[in-house]
Amino acid sequence: MKDKPLVSLISAGLSKFGKLEGLYAREIFAEAAKEAYERCPKLDPKKDIKALYVGHMGESYEHQGHTGATMADWAGLLHIPATRTEAACASSGAALRTALQAVLSGLSDVVMVGGVEKMTHRSTADVTEYLAMASDFPFEQWQGMTFPGLYALMATAHMHEYGTTEKDMATVAVKNHYHGSLNPKAHMQKEITLETAMTSRVVAWPLKLYDCSLITDGASCLILTKPELASKFTDTPVHIVGSGQASDTIGLYERESLTSLAAAKLAAKQAYEMADMKPEDINIAEVHDCFTIAEIIAYEDLGFCKAGEGGKLAEEGETRLGGRIPVNTSGGLKSKGHPVGATGTAQAYEIFLQLTGQAERRQVKDAEIGLTHNVGGSGATATVHIYRRG
Ligand SMILES: CC(C)(COP(=O)(O)OP(=O)(O)OC[C@H]1O[C@@H](n2cnc3c(N)ncnc32)[C@H](O)[C@@H]1OP(=O)(O)O)[C@@H](O)C(=O)NCCC(=O)NCCS
Repeated sequence: MKDKPLVSLISAGLSKFGKLEGLYAREIFAEAAKEAYERCPKLDPKKDIKALYVGHMGESYEHQGHTGATMADWAGLLHIPATRTEAACASSGAALRTALQAVLSGLSDVVMVGGVEKMTHRSTADVTEYLAMASDFPFEQWQGMTFPGLYALMATAHMHEYGTTEKDMATVAVKNHYHGSLNPKAHMQKEITLETAMTSRVVAWPLKLYDCSLITDGASCLILTKPELASKFTDTPVHIVGSGQASDTIGLYERESLTSLAAAKLAAKQAYEMADMKPEDINIAEVHDCFTIAEIIAYEDLGFCKAGEGGKLAEEGETRLGGRIPVNTSGGLKSKGHPVGATGTAQAYEIFLQLTGQAERRQVKDAEIGLTHNVGGSGATATVHIYRRG
């Protein structure tokens, strides 16, 4: 059956994203959980929620591991099974996939899934080192490679192979900052010009300050149930109709291509097949723009355009609000921010708002089908989910 619901989202919550000084990750997660509970008054969290899955990348930031149990306690869910998933920046995309399996297996009827990261109390040098732990140790980290450096390699390969330009990448930044300016929870709510992006300082050429995602604190969560139970909790569920996850070599240097992520393409193929849908069916998407080149590659890997035409798609305004397929209406990782463990379910939060008509100034009219694309590291993990308005 076409677009058969696998599971249903009955609520979602998001903390403010930004520099949340003086707060621990657990308090930020509690803020996201509170919003999810308030959005769904028919849910009794303590009684109804049977399991928690939390994406969290690193214990180095707060010197705090054991995140599953910690977040369950602070979300008022003490004693339920609580499990952390880790897949670098795709930690909560992987949590979502795991939560979906828990509901589909019949093990748990109602589950909470989310993600969290507290990063900004650390120096940029420390954060860069912790993030780099998601790359290959002997041949990348140990040689001084960083994530801006890895994505710069992809960018130069894309420029060489397809003629993609620094301006194409800056166009993505301008779009995402415009979208972020409409999102009251975004880390950076300011519009920028093409000139600001193009003349910003170089981080790892050709990537400049405005090509990079933000170092951010934040948390996100969703509440999932079986489709047949959704009406007990809400009249406006959002169904997940396709799910895909794949992996690739940890080292970028071992890949056949630097201009496409094989894991993302495979995850997308699985999700489209499960949903019985094609790229043309998608109305809105939240994609993993950890660097602007990553968004251009995502357009191509997801089939929104042909290989090599991602820059052109951005230039033509097709992915901007009002365009054919608005991408990252939340502001994306670039402007909403990238608290790494929280990003996957934060993407789903935006799709939930859009498909239930609650996205306010950035609402896409009549959006019915949404997609999320969450990537770990330089692409060793990718998850893709497809959603339909209930
Ligand atoms: C790009 C980066 C290195 C900048 O860090 P930095 O040089 O230490 O910058 P600072 O934190 O000192 O901030 C300096 C200014 O730049 C701004 N800024 C910082 N990062 C920014 C970004 N990514 N985009 C736009 N502005 C940014 C700050 O708000 C600040 O502005 P202000 O002077 O008006 O207050 C950092 O944001 C980064 O590493 N981003 C990538 C994170 C990453 O790799 N994530 C994982 C992806 S796989």
